[in-house]
Amino acid sequence: MSIVIVGAGQAGLQIAESLRRGGYEGRVLLLGDESFAPYQRPPLSKKYLADDMADERLQFRPVEQLTKQNIEFRPLTTVTAIDRAAGEVVLASGERVAYEGLALTTGTRVRPLPVPGAEHPAVCYLRGLDDAKRLRSQLASAARVLVIGGGFIGLEVAATARHAGKTVTVVETLDRLMARAVAPVVSEYFAELHRGHGVELRFKVALTAIAGNPDGSLTATLSDGSTVDADLLVAGIGVLPNQELAAAAGLECANGIVVDEFARTSDPRIVAAGDCTWHINRRFAAPLRLESVQNAVDQGKIAAQSLLGNAVPYQDLPWFWSDQYDVKLQMVGLSQAHDSLVVRGAPESAAFSVFYFKAGELLGVDSINRPAEHMLARKLMSLGISPSPDAVADTGFDLKTLLPAP
Ligand code: NAI
Repeated sequence: MSIVIVGAGQAGLQIAESLRRGGYEGRVLLLGDESFAPYQRPPLSKKYLADDMADERLQFRPVEQLTKQNIEFRPLTTVTAIDRAAGEVVLASGERVAYEGLALTTGTRVRPLPVPGAEHPAVCYLRGLDDAKRLRSQLASAARVLVIGGGFIGLEVAATARHAGKTVTVVETLDRLMARAVAPVVSEYFAELHRGHGVELRFKVALTAIAGNPDGSLTATLSDGSTVDADLLVAGIGVLPNQELAAAAGLECANGIVVDEFARTSDPRIVAAGDCTWHINRRFAAPLRLESVQNAVDQGKIAAQSLLGNAVPYQDLPWFWSDQYDVKLQMVGLSQAHDSLVVRGAPESAAFSVFYFKAGELLGVDSINRPAEHMLARKLMSLGISPSPDAVADTGFDLKTLLPAP
């Protein structure tokens, strides 16, 4: 008996450990194509990039702890094919590994810059620890940093680079920051925050070309014809799900590997979890793909249950966070479909929350430097309690009173 897990990130590790916690006694193989043991990604754009965190602290646990749980972790191991008929995965070395159950936790990869000159050595991306090491070393010797993309990666890198005293320009094709995730009021707050720290923000322009200079720097040309000189260019323009392995094996894929509410793919012996899945969550009417630690962990647990033969539906509440300078942005729920919003507290005070509603029902809350309110919103939403927009607007009203008595 053996279960093979392809991808040794947060979701893969979660499945391995949940299998053991659930009493699975067969072989568990955790295969990762990187050289590192499973590590946390969130610090890569923050503390790790700022050289304020040792490599060992990035690791979830020492490898011995995996061995103790009888999890066979294999680094530098790439799976090139799934032979569903034989019940085997094929490794790059040609070795075949048999499985009884298979988990795909292949994550995402960065979207490459679609412009001429993008292979310039001063162009960096940030996804894995190798990327972070390379970026960190190049950042140390750069004076001028150009960031392409005003999303989470771009802004966290911009904040870290500013903190290190670099000149920073951010180019965003849309008209505001983090547009995919937050309302204009939150984008505006963060735009002011970055400007206040001396970052130049350029909206509604795209990068069109990169040219190298004899001194090793580069010149970026933007769609309005202007140019920006930089010693380092960091691109954070989104990610793509790693679904090719699944697709080649004939598993259904859309914007990610298609899984049901039990994290099962179209093959009942194969589950998938994390950033790579196009999945069903009982809380939402339509399938979705989420790029978050919460989804990797919670969906990983569901996938492990399915491998153990227990059908537990996925219905966890999504939440996310981002740290920029000393500001903590915490998000809960999915707010994109909102038709109204209420700002609780004043953005000028640098501590406020935005409550998003649809037809009077709470969809999500973004909290800026209000961790207690974020936790409260998570409690309310997971209990299905929706405060009225009026109650939220009344700062004198204590939202905690809406919780059931302990
Ligand atoms: P993202 O989707 O958050 O942001 C990409 C940004 O780039 C968007 O604002 C988009 O409008 C812009 N963009 C797209 N094409 C562009 C172009 N050609 N030129 C200029 N701007 C362009 O993706 P991002 O920041 O790359 O993050 C990648 C992954 O890392 C995501 O999975 C994200 O969730 C994750 N991440 C999450 C963090 C968090 O939750 N705190 C922190 C850092 C990363």
